[in-house]
Amino acid sequence: MLVVVVDNYDELSRDGARRVADLVRKKPDCVLGFATGGTPLGMYAELIRLHKEEGLDFSKVVTFNLDEYVGLTPSHERSYHYFMSKNLFGHINVDPRYVHIPDGAAGDVAEQCDWYEARIKQFGGIDLQILGIGANGHIAFNEPGSSLGSRTRIKTLKEKTRRNNARFFSSLEEVPKYAITMGVGTVMEAHGLLLMASGSEKADAVAATVEGPITAQYPATIVQMHRFATILIDREAGAKLQGDYSGF
Ligand code: PGA
Repeated sequence: MLVVVVDNYDELSRDGARRVADLVRKKPDCVLGFATGGTPLGMYAELIRLHKEEGLDFSKVVTFNLDEYVGLTPSHERSYHYFMSKNLFGHINVDPRYVHIPDGAAGDVAEQCDWYEARIKQFGGIDLQILGIGANGHIAFNEPGSSLGSRTRIKTLKEKTRRNNARFFSSLEEVPKYAITMGVGTVMEAHGLLLMASGSEKADAVAATVEGPITAQYPATIVQMHRFATILIDREAGAKLQGDYSGF
């Protein structure tokens, strides 16, 4: 596990985008795992800039998103389909046939989850999975208590997560109660992980993830077991780390 501490959110966004862009240039048909939430927005803006100004080519890239709310159709303005289209996919030359996001409106959720897992395998696994982290230690929608070996499935969202995400909805009541999410085991099978965190509200979660005991009560701690995990954080998010990571 490599911990990289940068000064601020802008640097975090540029550094994250550079890592993704390096992979796309090296392996134009790579499989990228994307995340939603506030953290990757700056990185997505930088990837759009790299596409528009430097010709970064996504035409052969395959993408898999971590999760989607159950009950929201892809066109719903609060769905993660909509989020990705608005903040990234609508501005780069990714091929829609290669874009995968769980269908939150699927009639048969179990079948949708099995299909998602099979589809990831069909493309040879995810080369680089981008991850945010919840203040409660969740990754994707794997809330505290999630099995560390779990696969793509439906999860009930914790009240704290619903409250955090209410900022994207007009009221708390509107925030869905369930989501389809890649499992912790699914995430851990990605060949590389890039976990990003910014701001002091993530400092406890980052300290537990990097230096705490591995526990299902803090699903993000499992990334300590990954050989190719990079934890990319800004100074505020790293403020509660005990170790010195300045050498990297
Ligand atoms: P955030 O969410 O990027 O909006 O902080 C991260 C997460 O909840 O996984």
